[in-house]
Amino acid sequence: MATNLVPQVMNALEATNFYFKRAVKLLGLDSKVERSLLIPFREIKVECTIPKDDGTLASYIGFRVQHDNSRGQMKGGIRYHPEVELNEVNALAQLMTWKSAVANIPYGGAKGGIGCNPRDLSPTELERLTRVFTQKIHDVIGPHLDIPAPDMGTNAQTMAWILDEYSKFHGYTPAVVTGKPVDLGGSLGREAATGRGVLYATEALLKDHNLSIRGQTFVVQGFGNVGSWASKLIHEKGGKIKAVSDVTGAIKNNSGIDITALNEHVRMTGGVKGFEGANPLDAAALLAEDCDVLIPAALGGVINGETAKDVSAKFIVEAANHPTDPVADEILAKRGVIILPDIYANCGGVTVSYFEWVQNIQGFPWEEEKVNTNLKKYMEKAYLSIKSTCQTHNCSHRMGAFSLGVGRVAKATLLRGWEA
Ligand SMILES: NC(=O)c1ccc[n+]([C@@H]2O[C@H](COP(=O)([O-])OP(=O)(O)OC[C@H]3O[C@@H](n4cnc5c(N)ncnc54)[C@H](O)[C@@H]3O)[C@@H](O)[C@H]2O)c1
Repeated sequence: MATNLVPQVMNALEATNFYFKRAVKLLGLDSKVERSLLIPFREIKVECTIPKDDGTLASYIGFRVQHDNSRGQMKGGIRYHPEVELNEVNALAQLMTWKSAVANIPYGGAKGGIGCNPRDLSPTELERLTRVFTQKIHDVIGPHLDIPAPDMGTNAQTMAWILDEYSKFHGYTPAVVTGKPVDLGGSLGREAATGRGVLYATEALLKDHNLSIRGQTFVVQGFGNVGSWASKLIHEKGGKIKAVSDVTGAIKNNSGIDITALNEHVRMTGGVKGFEGANPLDAAALLAEDCDVLIPAALGGVINGETAKDVSAKFIVEAANHPTDPVADEILAKRGVIILPDIYANCGGVTVSYFEWVQNIQGFPWEEEKVNTNLKKYMEKAYLSIKSTCQTHNCSHRMGAFSLGVGRVAKATLLRGWEA
């Protein structure tokens, strides 16, 4: 496609719609199906008023957007963030629909949140807010309707409160949420799942190019949950992690960073800065570091029209959501850089969430090994399906993944029919 057809600045939401529309074209879907896929199944907006610890009242707005349920119950995170608003929640819910379909798990997409700053709220205020929000939406969520999970600003404790509040209305129901504490039915392996999925996705990509993790060099931006787990697992497989960054700074060691020692340093100091087994690196230069595989695992939009030209990696594995904007996507494609897109590369988390739900429904917890073995199978299968879609439509991995996801949802929608 010509560059002049790509708008120069696009946020994550606009980019999702942009790729969706391209997928619709590649698949040859008619405009009625396109419209039906785009319009959310249900949008919910609720008032959540709570007494604060000092006795005053505070009101917040909670959202839940249920985008599509043609392939199964809807699934998606709940975020607590000051900028949560309906349009963004809508786009994120849509993205969850395509992501679940790419992973081939029997879920549709949803997303929700409360417009609040969780750092300004005490634990008791957060608990009250979560319970009020659950009271307002309990009749439209559930194990066979819509299953929330943690996202930005929420965690396993938030899920435990939702589980408890929901269970007051419906009886004990651990399958109403995923990402909950293991003691309440959470899955072993869930914490590492997104990073482990990044490892399996990278292995599948490299295998396709007759390469393996051992012998390749890696640069990882972001050393939080996803980045640190991906780094640890890649390091254990013999990959050489040359450079890593987080919000405290960046570090580099051409002989490879000892990730076990770095994890210990981060645990003690709170960041990668000052790690003795590596040299400091200008954080702005990290993305341009010479390596085979670049793994952005922090923020959206970091690989853009400005930074893309300096990227020297042969492969980019998008562990973060939307790290590459569409302008950069084009620049990199022209240079032959292969990108594994976020809707595939970071779907390990939602896949193990699905395994958690299965274990809850069965009332039968799995060993961690079973979780990891099944995750590997799902990631490998999804890679092969994306590759075959790329061959059918002669397109990039990103458009292969979007077309695969959108195509599966369109097929389910058409099979279910529209009879009223
Ligand atoms: N956690 C999951 O299961 C999951 C699933 C799918 C997608 N994701 C995506 O992966 C990304 C990371 O999520 P996470 O759960 O690891 O978050 P996290 O908060 O645990 O970690 C984020 C990391 O990014 C670092 N960071 C922040 N600003 C930075 C900057 N300017 N430069 C370099 N590093 C910076 C932080 O220091 C931290 O190490 C996000 O885009 C998230 O949406 C996460």
